[in-house]
Amino acid sequence: MELTRAQSDEIERLIALQATRRGPLLPLLHDVQAALGYIPDASVPAIAEGLNLSRAEVHGVITFYHDFRRAPPAAHIVRLCRAEACQARGAAAAEAAATTRFGVAMGETRADGRVALEPAYCLGLCAIGPSALVDGRPFARLGPAEVERLAAEIGI
Ligand code: FES
Repeated sequence: MELTRAQSDEIERLIALQATRRGPLLPLLHDVQAALGYIPDASVPAIAEGLNLSRAEVHGVITFYHDFRRAPPAAHIVRLCRAEACQARGAAAAEAAATTRFGVAMGETRADGRVALEPAYCLGLCAIGPSALVDGRPFARLGPAEVERLAAEIGI
């Protein structure tokens, strides 16, 4: 998909800000994602040219780091912890409840774009797990009832 004029202008502005700095690629990719919500594939040529890198190098970094999104984000992002402490407290059951209630598999965005489920590996809320971050807000002791409350809160 092609960039809009506004997206293209914003990417050029961000490239100009970072191009003269040392190690500019990662900060620039974070800037682009912060500005647009994701890093469009169509932005890779401009980023590569602006930083004097190959397209393969830029693409490789984008795909290596899982926090970089290559598609527009869902309206709500639910990050469920899968790390050890939460596993011991029932994370698998919480994940099963969430995938069923939201109608989307872990790591996927629902077809209507309303919610995405993403795995996380420790959110720093181990003592009150299973834990989740919903649009950046922490949720604790996630079980089926809490998943239901969460779904109501985000209108799903
Ligand atoms: S293990 Fe889940 S928040 Fe730390």
